[in-house]
Amino acid sequence: MPAQRKEPANDLLPSAFPEGWYFVASRKELEKVRIVRKTWMGTEIVAWSDENGHVCVAEAYCPHLGSDMGPSVGGRVRDGRLVCPFHGFEYDTSGQCVATPFAPAPKAARLRVFDSHELAGLVFAWWGIGGRLPQWHLPTEEPDQDGWSDLHIWTPRFASHPQETTENSVDLSHLRYVHGYDSVSRVGPMSVDGHVLVSDFDFTTTRNIARIASTRLRVSARTLVVGLGYSFVEVHEHTIGLDMRLWILATPVDGTLIDLSVVSQTGEIRNPSRWIAGLGFLPVRLRAPIMNKIMASFERRDVLQDVPIWSTKSYRSRPRLARSDGEIMRYRAYCAQFYPDLPAAAGDTGTVVDLRSAADG
Ligand code: FES
Ligand SMILES: [Fe+2]
Repeated sequence: MPAQRKEPANDLLPSAFPEGWYFVASRKELEKVRIVRKTWMGTEIVAWSDENGHVCVAEAYCPHLGSDMGPSVGGRVRDGRLVCPFHGFEYDTSGQCVATPFAPAPKAARLRVFDSHELAGLVFAWWGIGGRLPQWHLPTEEPDQDGWSDLHIWTPRFASHPQETTENSVDLSHLRYVHGYDSVSRVGPMSVDGHVLVSDFDFTTTRNIARIASTRLRVSARTLVVGLGYSFVEVHEHTIGLDMRLWILATPVDGTLIDLSVVSQTGEIRNPSRWIAGLGFLPVRLRAPIMNKIMASFERRDVLQDVPIWSTKSYRSRPRLARSDGEIMRYRAYCAQFYPDLPAAAGDTGTVVDLRSAADG
C-alpha cells in the first residue's frame, strides 16, 4: 500500500522540471571553453561542438565505465570528438562512440543525447518528461542581425521555478508595484496557441540614462513565451526610437535552484538627438553596443528587484486575485501542458488549476 502522503505545508508545482526547451550555453561560450559541463534539469551534462558547428548536448558520464567527461576531470575535444579521460573512448556529435585506443569501438557505447536547437547564437536542448522526444519546437527563423549589438548575457542563480519566473510576463500589477512602471496597459488580450503564449503591453518608465539625462521612456513590449524555458521580448521604445530584444531563459539546475539567463541585444538608435546630443556624435557602430550596456543594466535592476520575491515565495495554486492582476489563471492553464504525465488540469478557459492535487501523481 502506498505510504500516506502528508498534506504539504505549501502548494507544490507538479515537477521541478517541466517539459520544454532549456538554455544550455551560447555559441560564443562553447567556442571559448570547448566543453560546457553543468548541472541542467537535475542531470549532469556536457556540451561541445565539432568543426562543422554541430553541437552535442549529452549526459556527462561515459557509457563505458562511467567517468565524468567534463574538462576538470580531463575530458577534451579532439577533431570534433569528445574524448573520455578514463580509457580514451571517442564520441562524435551524434553521441556514438567511434574510436577507442586499443580495440574497435563498441556499437553499444552511445551517449544519452538531448535534442538541441540553436537560435540567435543560443543553444537549447529538449527536456522531455519520461525521456520523450520533442513535441514542439522553438522558432526556427533567425532574427536579423544587421545593425544589432552583440548579445549581452547575465545569469543569476537563485531558488525558484521557471513557471514562477515566467509568470512575471503576465503579472501586470507587479510591473507597477515592484518595478515602478507607469500606466501599464495591455494591448489586446493575451493569446494562447498550443505551446505559444503571446502577451502585448505598453508602459512608460522614467530612467536616468548614464547619469546624464532623466528620460521618460514609452515602451511597447511583446512577449513570446514558448514553453517555460524560453521567453522572448521584443521591446520598442518610442521616445528615442530604440529597439531591443530580450530573452529571459529560466533553466532549472537541480530541483531547487534555477539559472535565469537574461540575454539582451539592442538595435541602432534612430533619433539620438531627441535624447542626448552626445550620442549623435558617436560612430554609428558604437551606438548599439553602448545602448545595449545601458539597457542591460536596466534589465539587471528589474531582475534584482524580483529575485528576493521569487526566491522566497510560496506557490499558491489558488491565488486570491484582484481585478488588476491580469490573466494569471489563463497563464496557469497554459502551463499545465508542460507536465504531461499528470492529469490535464484545465483547458484554455481560465479555470482554476489545482496543481496541488496533481503533485507527484
Ligand atoms: S569510462 Fe570513458 S572510456 Fe572508460
Ligand atoms: Fe518582474
